[in-house]
Amino acid sequence: MTYSEKVHHTVAYINAELNSPKPAYGIILGTGLGALVDDITIEHELAYEDLPNFPVSTVESHKGKLIFGELSGKKVVAMQGRFHYYEGYDMKDVTFPVRVMKLLGIKKLFISNAAGGVNMDFNVADLMIIEDHIDLTKENPLTGKNMDEFGGRFPDMSEPYERKMIDEALEIAKVNGIPCHEGVYAGVSGPNLETRAEYRYIARIGADAVGMSTVPEVIVARHMDLPVFAISAITDLCDPDHLEKVEISKILAAAAKAEKGMTKIIKELISRQ
Ligand code: HPA
Repeated sequence: MTYSEKVHHTVAYINAELNSPKPAYGIILGTGLGALVDDITIEHELAYEDLPNFPVSTVESHKGKLIFGELSGKKVVAMQGRFHYYEGYDMKDVTFPVRVMKLLGIKKLFISNAAGGVNMDFNVADLMIIEDHIDLTKENPLTGKNMDEFGGRFPDMSEPYERKMIDEALEIAKVNGIPCHEGVYAGVSGPNLETRAEYRYIARIGADAVGMSTVPEVIVARHMDLPVFAISAITDLCDPDHLEKVEISKILAAAAKAEKGMTKIIKELISRQ
């Protein structure tokens, strides 16, 4: 089967299994959005391992399933567990679910992640709405023969993150007193964190935060002309002149602290679409 046939096969399987669920919005529940599941009125769940052609998540902390239901009165499909390049998947695997969600009918894609702050005006556990990105990953998901049925050869990247949703989200954050910035996300492949020289470089080229996901998913979404909203939980500050050893427990604690505000923003934002 070609890649495109695999996408269609998976979509046909889901539509047959769930009697064509027709979600309006897709959500990738990364770091900071774990609790959003509790706000979804769940109608169906499909484990990744039961979906034909789906990669299977290897990170234990990411339970892999597609969740179908209602959030803020809208029909959504949420990915609980995403695929990272550093786990050994290629970028076409990492982005396969985004193609599937688009063909299931989603109109917009919402993404969350954890990121290290390189903008020294940020504080740990702040949020950053991604306004633009810099792709520092090692593979592009669109490499190879273009799949014309999905989109053009040279996708436009002048507005990778929908401006209207960024403004709506900033307003929601302000009204609710949620510490939130707008900034540029540098996407890297990982899994190692950055050296001091790399953090210095990432800040100098214009990024405010750095993380190991999101960019490939956004590239594929934009290839299919899918509007995107993405938000980072700033889990640690990466000051190259005073770099501390990362402690995963501290990162997880910061993500937990950011969760409430992030959940609020996404719920409100979806209700406004
Ligand atoms: N670098 C890359 N990814 C991250 C970081 C970081 O410093 N912090 C949280 N995710």
